[in-house]
Amino acid sequence: MNIEAIQKAYRRYARFYDFYFGVVFHRGRKAVIDRMNCQPGEKILEVGVGTGLSLPLYPENVYVTGIDISPEMLKRAEHRKARDALDNVLELRLMDAEQMQFASNEFDKVVAAYVVPVVSNPKALVAEMCRVCKPDGELFIVNHFQSQNPLIKRMEHLLSPFSETLGFRTDLSLEAFIHDTELDVLERSGVNLFGYWTMLRARNKKQRITEELLPLQAGPRFASG
Ligand SMILES: C[S@@+](CC[C@H](N)C(=O)[O-])C[C@H]1O[C@@H](n2cnc3c(N)ncnc32)[C@H](O)[C@@H]1O
Repeated sequence: MNIEAIQKAYRRYARFYDFYFGVVFHRGRKAVIDRMNCQPGEKILEVGVGTGLSLPLYPENVYVTGIDISPEMLKRAEHRKARDALDNVLELRLMDAEQMQFASNEFDKVVAAYVVPVVSNPKALVAEMCRVCKPDGELFIVNHFQSQNPLIKRMEHLLSPFSETLGFRTDLSLEAFIHDTELDVLERSGVNLFGYWTMLRARNKKQRITEELLPLQAGPRFASG
């Protein structure tokens, strides 16, 4: 899926999004934000913030930044921020999550709710989430991945040619996603109706890389004498 197709799909969805996807996805948004265990003063980035349905769920004492590629979705998020006086929402910016304009290591936690099968390149998304997140920070993802039920899996596969029109991929496999992105998953659980959606908590990859490099940087040990 390319950016134009995604923007076109969400231009269409924006007006009805809250009505169709508000309540049905609410539990997953709530579960992921609860699991983030936000601490006072933390800087949180939500990528693909959409109409900002999750924004009122963050504690007042954290600083939230939201980005989205759809101007129409973002406009609704801005309206929500103003209407609900969400002063902890610092910024809502039109930005591609696959190529963010933030400096590295800016955020304590980065979250993507119902975004992974929507972006053109999930690997680039995760790489960018890791880059802008502090090395000891965490990533949170909530999404539907390909079902393990053969019947549903078949239906999802049949729908896959319509991804561009739907605005999301229907048959993204969780295992392939974790493998391709090298996501360092700490925890996974089912959320929303029948646990059909998955919540992932992951360690920033930078942390693992640092741990792997530390012994090498210390250099080889030579026996003295
Ligand atoms: C299914 S909606 C989810 C919105 C919101 N997170 C929620 O919980 O309802 C997916 C959102 O991801 C956005 N999106 C898709 N690709 C993106 C990208 N490359 N960068 C930023 N946002 C993107 C879409 O514009 C859309 O608003």
